[in-house]
Amino acid sequence: MRLHHLDWVARAQQATRELAMEELLEAGIVPRGEPFVPVITYPAMGLMPSAHADEVLGAHPAVRQPVALYLHLPFCLTRCHFCHWVTRVGSTEDEVAGYLDGLDLELRLYRERLSLDRIRVASILVGGGTPSCLSAANLQKFLHLLDKHVDTTECRQFSFEAEPSTLLGDSGAELLRILRDHGVHRLSMGVQAFDDGLLRQTARPHSSAQALEAIARIREFGFQSVAIDLIYGLGGQTLQQWIDTMQTAVRSGADSWQLYRLRIAPHGDRPGTVLGHYRQDPSTFPGYDEGSVMKMLGILISEEHGFHQDYTRIFSRDPSHVSGYLHDVNNDLADVIPAGISSWGSLDSTYFLHVGDDFRKYRQMLAEGRLPIDRGLVLDEATAQRRALILPLKNTRVDKQAYFDRMGRWPQDLFAPTLERLRGLDLVEEDQDFLRLTARGRFFADEVVMQFFEPRFVPPRKLA
Ligand SMILES: C[S@@+](CC[C@H](N)C(=O)[O-])C[C@H]1O[C@@H](n2cnc3c(N)ncnc32)[C@H](O)[C@@H]1O
Ligand code: SF4
Repeated sequence: MRLHHLDWVARAQQATRELAMEELLEAGIVPRGEPFVPVITYPAMGLMPSAHADEVLGAHPAVRQPVALYLHLPFCLTRCHFCHWVTRVGSTEDEVAGYLDGLDLELRLYRERLSLDRIRVASILVGGGTPSCLSAANLQKFLHLLDKHVDTTECRQFSFEAEPSTLLGDSGAELLRILRDHGVHRLSMGVQAFDDGLLRQTARPHSSAQALEAIARIREFGFQSVAIDLIYGLGGQTLQQWIDTMQTAVRSGADSWQLYRLRIAPHGDRPGTVLGHYRQDPSTFPGYDEGSVMKMLGILISEEHGFHQDYTRIFSRDPSHVSGYLHDVNNDLADVIPAGISSWGSLDSTYFLHVGDDFRKYRQMLAEGRLPIDRGLVLDEATAQRRALILPLKNTRVDKQAYFDRMGRWPQDLFAPTLERLRGLDLVEEDQDFLRLTARGRFFADEVVMQFFEPRFVPPRKLA
């Protein structure tokens, strides 16, 4: 390791030691010897019971507009080894076009069901899969169908996920032109690592140089914002490689990055091959302690260059670059309308999932004129109260007055014993207006907010 790498490692190890993790292990906040499980939402998706759309939505579902709109495009060039998302590789042009026809029908069904002339959106996130692997013709088709169903007058941010190699060459330029001319503000790109060995090893379709070229391209085309995703804790990944990746990120021209700790346990319906790799030889993966040092390196290197963590695990010089969809969903608790095979929605006090990985069932339900919902809940009062605390606490902060206006109770009263315990461990702090995680609490954000979970909604950690 070069000297400056050693310096960084020493600083990160020292800062990690100062977090006194042993105390949190003993307090049962950080689970000993168990795999990391992120809190993406509450209750966790994997625990949703089976349910028909009618049971969840009722006859006249209420919707608060403008909504956050999520659209799932489940197509990729390759299946990355670490990925548990629902996606398909090698789909033909016609298969993709057929899926888009399904999306069109689905958005019409939501409009009918919710009695909406058009869907008024506060933010849009087109996610995947890899939305940018659509051909220009299918991308135009997709954007036109969106125009038919969606009113973007109040839309603050339109985000679109991309994979670097799809934005290069003439075809990439054409995609970027179409997206820009259609009002997309922000491209969110999966980069994962600026390291060709790791990229090859995880079956990514691009090189490190291509990722940098794609960022420059997005800039040239004048998009408002370019965000990148990076992963730490990959099999075989060293501290040195992670430092190099972070140092390249700060020079890359990206406006923000989201740092993901590798999740080995699947969170959805389609376990990635990483699970098999882990079972074969867990020793090739950085353990919890080394993963924690990597996380600290991500924080320290970002901050050294003026990229702050205003939003847990997302770093930017200016918070306007953070995903507006994530902010609407997790901070403002906006209603979410989903479209696409593996997506989730939340209207009023309901929370529901689409069919996941079953393409045949998805097509069949739409053909029968049914929304493709097959799991979900009407949240009882206690679950809604927990959800309204957990999501903003994990990601930003809880605005006490906003909580009271929404739930009719003060969060500091409802959760007094847990808050007291977490304050005693320097994990949560409170002032007149807000409840928020301390710096120590934010480092363990997932584990801390899990303290507010009802036992029946704690996600399983088994690597089964
Ligand atoms: C749905 S992907 C969208 C980006 C695009 N498909 C790509 O990979 O280029 C969202 C992000 O989730 C992260 N991710 C995927 N699988 C993960 C895992 N097992 N653990 C942690 N993060 C993961 C990756 O950083 C990925 O970019
Ligand atoms: S990480 Fe992105 S590109 Fe890779 S398989 Fe998953 S969705 Fe596709």
